[in-house]
Amino acid sequence: MRAVVFKRPRKVSVEKVDDPRIEAPLDAIVRITTTNICGSDLHPYEGRAVLKPGMVLGHENMGVVEEVGPGVERIKVGDRVSVPFNIACGTCRNCDDGFTSACLRANPSGRPGAGYGYPMMGDYWGGQAEFLRVPWADTNLLRLPEGKDHERDFALLSDVFPTGFHGAELAQVGAGSTVAVFGAGAVGLLAAHSSILRGAARVFVVDKEPDRLALATQIGATAINFAETDPSEAIMDATGGFGVDCGIEAVGYQAHDAAGKEHPAMVLDRLVDVVRATGRIGVLGVYVEQDPGAANKQAKQGRVAFDYGTAFMKGISIAGGQCPVKKYNRYLRDLIMAGRATPSWLVSHELSLDEAPTAYKKFDARADGYTKVLLHP
Ligand SMILES: NC(=O)c1ccc[n+]([C@@H]2O[C@H](COP(=O)([O-])OP(=O)(O)OC[C@H]3O[C@@H](n4cnc5c(N)ncnc54)[C@H](O)[C@@H]3O)[C@@H](O)[C@H]2O)c1
Ligand SMILES: [Zn+2]
Ligand SMILES: [Zn+2]
Repeated sequence: MRAVVFKRPRKVSVEKVDDPRIEAPLDAIVRITTTNICGSDLHPYEGRAVLKPGMVLGHENMGVVEEVGPGVERIKVGDRVSVPFNIACGTCRNCDDGFTSACLRANPSGRPGAGYGYPMMGDYWGGQAEFLRVPWADTNLLRLPEGKDHERDFALLSDVFPTGFHGAELAQVGAGSTVAVFGAGAVGLLAAHSSILRGAARVFVVDKEPDRLALATQIGATAINFAETDPSEAIMDATGGFGVDCGIEAVGYQAHDAAGKEHPAMVLDRLVDVVRATGRIGVLGVYVEQDPGAANKQAKQGRVAFDYGTAFMKGISIAGGQCPVKKYNRYLRDLIMAGRATPSWLVSHELSLDEAPTAYKKFDARADGYTKVLLHP
């Protein structure tokens, strides 16, 4: 099959590799119809998370089941499915508690949590390819209605829509809440969209990319360009000095200032500024344990010095981590089918697999208009 293969930092190529095959009785093989490029793919792409050359990338996958192992009983050949980015066994203690993002059995290294095509998540090939092997298929695959309807919306069910929703859940966004979202990539924009779906009264979205901020405005959020205004001051002024109830971090460890200089703590600090006393912060942006490309020794070891003293004194609750996609994907699928959510408003490009190398380059540069790229193998 053809697949997007990681060669070395800033170099991916589309190559012929071996087809995946059923390796265990509960496996399925999915023929990929749509697979997306994610901000998380840029971590290995930029060499800021160490990935083995030869790995097939891609954790945001959907398609049609091509083959199932002898133990698979719920999922059938021909089913149209969404594949959560988490790989979960479905039966360990964490899976049983609903935390499929921290499965204790799927990652051979013994670390909790596994996924496709990403460092330290268990060496599973990704789905930026014609086919994908899905372990524990009955647990991991979400069935979608047959046909081609809502393909672009459903493509966002494997990661960014549930992840955005998870941010709103962690920050306890509810009816009438005020919310500040930092980062207007796909994750931040869908955290804003999810907050509005959950009844938020006012949502601020902070970034410096005008094209992305324009999308935030389009859904009724208040866009703040941090290259032009101090976001903390802008949000405090707009809330009469009270601050917001909920903060959502959708940037991660490569947070930078308007000049592009990285400060891993800067978004966490801004959120501690603007979230009211006893408010909540949900951290979706990835922070890593080892970052070979970090600016200083502390950050190289994943140590992020943010204003925890103020957060404590304000009694702010902070929660974060990988999204357990299975907790939300069924309900978000149903919202899409009911016409109440159309997350695909942020999709900027639909390309063929062969165009992946250029798409990586442009998306990595946050080139104008490259918000979210969908690939059709
Ligand atoms: N928790 C999870 O399960 C999960 C799932 C998917 C993605 N992620 C992570 O979420 C983060 C966002 O993903 P994405 O696909 O939207 O990425 P992205 O790179 O497309 O978007 C990040 C945005 O943050 C903006 N930004 C940078 N510094 C900023 C600052 N100081 N203030 C405000 N905005 C700033 C950038 O301009 C960019 O638009 C990444 O860290 C990604 O790895 C986490
Ligand atoms: Zn992703
Ligand atoms: Zn498990």
